[in-house]
Amino acid sequence: DAVESAPAVVVGSGYGGAVAALRLGQAGIRTLVLEMGQLWDTAGADGKVFCSTTAPDQRSMWFRNRTEAPLATFLWLDVVNKAINPYPGVLDRVHYDQMSVYVGRGVGGGSLVNGGMAVTPLKSYFAEQFPTVDADEMYGTWFPRARAMLGVNSIDPAWFESTEWYRFTRTSRKAAANAGLKTTFVPNVYDFGYMQREAAGTATKSALAGEVIYGNNHGKRSLDKTYLAAALGTGNVTIQTMEKVTSVSRATDGSYLLTAERIDNTGAVVETKQYGCTYLFLGGGSLGTSELLVRARDTGALPDLDAGVGAGWGTNGNVMLGRANHIWDTVGAHQATMPVMGIDDWANPDNPVFAEIAPLPMGFEHWISLYLAITKNPQRARFTYDSSTGAVKLGWTTAQSAVSAGMAKKLFDRVNAANLTIYRYDLFGSTSKVFADNFTYHPLGGCVLGEATDDYGRVRGYPNLYVTDGSLVPGSIGVNPFVTITALAERTLARVLAEDIRS
Ligand code: FDA
Repeated sequence: DAVESAPAVVVGSGYGGAVAALRLGQAGIRTLVLEMGQLWDTAGADGKVFCSTTAPDQRSMWFRNRTEAPLATFLWLDVVNKAINPYPGVLDRVHYDQMSVYVGRGVGGGSLVNGGMAVTPLKSYFAEQFPTVDADEMYGTWFPRARAMLGVNSIDPAWFESTEWYRFTRTSRKAAANAGLKTTFVPNVYDFGYMQREAAGTATKSALAGEVIYGNNHGKRSLDKTYLAAALGTGNVTIQTMEKVTSVSRATDGSYLLTAERIDNTGAVVETKQYGCTYLFLGGGSLGTSELLVRARDTGALPDLDAGVGAGWGTNGNVMLGRANHIWDTVGAHQATMPVMGIDDWANPDNPVFAEIAPLPMGFEHWISLYLAITKNPQRARFTYDSSTGAVKLGWTTAQSAVSAGMAKKLFDRVNAANLTIYRYDLFGSTSKVFADNFTYHPLGGCVLGEATDDYGRVRGYPNLYVTDGSLVPGSIGVNPFVTITALAERTLARVLAEDIRS
């Protein structure tokens, strides 16, 4: 097979991949980005690029016969998920033995499906997680650069206090305050000016029309509109879609070789392609990058990879849960899909938790306060290669999830006690499930900075091979992770371009 060559190849177009693509392109280096998902820029028969959460179709999920939404049921009824045709949809739920992981698929990766919460971690916790990184430099240079590039903005507090669309957040804030808990506004990459126009009826509704996990048709500054648009604008970057990299190896001259499978809309492999490059940047996300490297090490393709490759994986302590409010504490039939506030109890040494106040836009009053709790769960797991099947497995266990659930329970027992309220038992499929600890939105680790790589994401044992994504973060960062992933990637690219790459 003919090998297509480029000086630099980037695998994946999420946060880590997008930063690499832009900075390489700006440095004049011809760069090829390989993305397994599609480019989401073409409207379907309904005139929309993405489908809504309330009426999901084939565009919602990655090759499924049925949607697999995080909230499985309402009043124990199987009313949430819908039958769909298998198609390269935008949201995937990857099932491992005892943990499933939601990830975005397409040009922009997780930015296409996430809640847009753009949170900078507490400096002290960042320093705890990344002891070898200069925290002053991160907070002085790389975090501000990431926020500016991502288009982070904040809700107008006066509008927040008055709009029906955030009644659910104000009700949750009151319940937290009754328990003596602090709440804090969190920034977002959704354009709040646009959202206010949606509310005023002068712009097409997106966040105010229930759009989020299956994509936003308007308002959100996803990576295809920020970093990746700028990367393409350099004229040096090409993005190939619907191509999944399946293996990485190294040629005798030190260059890297990749195999990629190009699929069609049915998922059939229509072509197997070979790529060669001098500089290889892995941005497939915690799952994608860890899988590629664990397989490469354990099949002997890159045998000198560190034993730390595959290790240090965590869920960022994610747990979803719902509380039932009193009849007079309404949450509103109208709810914006972009979260703007969290309960911040991270400083509590007994039980550090940061709980995002999540929307549940069902179009009618349901009195539910929904939360995505981020707990300081110290448990970590490892990816392993199964030579009998060729699969890469994740060793995370139900018992490890129970640690997160226990921490979330400790916090929300306080909220319930102070408000004389109870949990909702009907949202997560089975009658007894209160704490949804069996999935995560925040997969982190597998190729931890300073362990599997040096302090700048250079993969140990392999010159010119870099990791730029969430696999660098050691399983927990205490807040929603994409600002941290972006800032670390900016730091890596600046260093690598200055020291390693000659154009
Ligand atoms: P990311 O997953 O973004 O990108 C990886 C890309 O590589 C994907 O496009 C994938 O298709 C592609 N890929 C993987 N393997 C490949 C291969 N072998 N070949 C080719 N392509 C490959 N975070 C936050 O900070 N605030 C928030 O509000 C939220 N909310 C949220 C909601 C939901 C529903 C989800 C699923 C996630 C969030 N997150 C979030 C998490 C956030 O989206 C996530 O941390 C980042 O997207 C991770 O960025 P990465 O660069 O690591 O990978």
